[in-house]
Amino acid sequence: MIRKILAIETSCDDTSVAVVTAQGEVLSLVSRAQDLEHEPYGGIVPEIASRNHTSALIPLLEEALKQAGGLEWSDIEGLAVTNRPGLIGALIVGVITAKSLAQSLNLPLIGINHLEGHLLAPFLRDSEFSPPEDFNYPYIGLAISGGHTSLYRIQGLGDYQILGTTKDDAAGEAFDKFAKMAGLGFPGGVRVDHCAHTGNPKAYDFPRSMLHDDSLDMSFSGLKSAAQRLMADLGPVKTKEVLPDLCASYQEAIVDVLLAKLSRAAKRCQMKKIILTGGVSANSRLRERGLLLAQANKYQLVIPPLRYCTDNAAMIGYAGILRLNRGERHSMSLSPSPQVWDGDFQK
Ligand code: KG4
Ligand code: ZN
Repeated sequence: MIRKILAIETSCDDTSVAVVTAQGEVLSLVSRAQDLEHEPYGGIVPEIASRNHTSALIPLLEEALKQAGGLEWSDIEGLAVTNRPGLIGALIVGVITAKSLAQSLNLPLIGINHLEGHLLAPFLRDSEFSPPEDFNYPYIGLAISGGHTSLYRIQGLGDYQILGTTKDDAAGEAFDKFAKMAGLGFPGGVRVDHCAHTGNPKAYDFPRSMLHDDSLDMSFSGLKSAAQRLMADLGPVKTKEVLPDLCASYQEAIVDVLLAKLSRAAKRCQMKKIILTGGVSANSRLRERGLLLAQANKYQLVIPPLRYCTDNAAMIGYAGILRLNRGERHSMSLSPSPQVWDGDFQK
């Protein structure tokens, strides 16, 4: 049985390394964000992301061992790396590094689907957070990030069914694009969240696409276009003046759709355990209303702390160590893939 794994995550713009135990205990998690480098472009530039991973990764490996209580490489018994889905140039950096380590240290290697990491994040624990004692499979997961917005039924390790997904933009993308239009800058979600604190969520009636649709799919591009039209009608001066109301109303529309679909999924699958994961679950309004929804319906809602919600290597390490311990291995032919693999999810 493998007791400690080192994991690498480079699928998007965060370079992250973690050391995790088979019980999900995070011994160290060190990450380097690249917001400053991408900010001038108003979004993530893949080439810049790859280059930054290249320079950040090696020092983070050493730092992760040090912060895990001064471990040596000989204390590490396995390696996990995000190899799909993501920006291909960014994934290549992590996969090549993990393969080099596996080869030179003679360690077992496993490539992990980034989304599986997000779905298992509620099991992570450290000195400040642990999931409720009785939290376990099966549960409904809503993974909401800049690149993905999907609902899953999580039956057990490797047994994930997609219940619904966005038909166009991801929720995080909807936040980021709105922030860009409103001149709030990058990364957008957190800035919209902040600006919305002093606004009225009922000031503007933004569309809630597919809200009453019986399916569990979602759509956010109509919302973005409505905001664009509204801002054009208001003009730049008025837009700036009413920005808190615009942010609060826009955010409310996204939260309404996300929570309605999450609740519908829980009811349809007759499940009481639900999780929110991915960068957008940092949203304060979503957290607040998610807790109310849980109270009203007696759901057990687990939202991992922010450090495990945003892109991080700890969630990859946990998925990796579980899979290695049930005998799975990847060879040196492991390659990065921009898409998920066939069989990663059931339809
Ligand atoms: O999971 P994540 O860190 O990276 C991806 O895999 O995309 O998620 C990043 C996304 C971005 O779109 C960002 O704007 C959004 O999460 N986000 C937020 C908040 N904090 C981050 N969206 C809304 N409210 C927030 N507080
Ligand atoms: Zn992610």
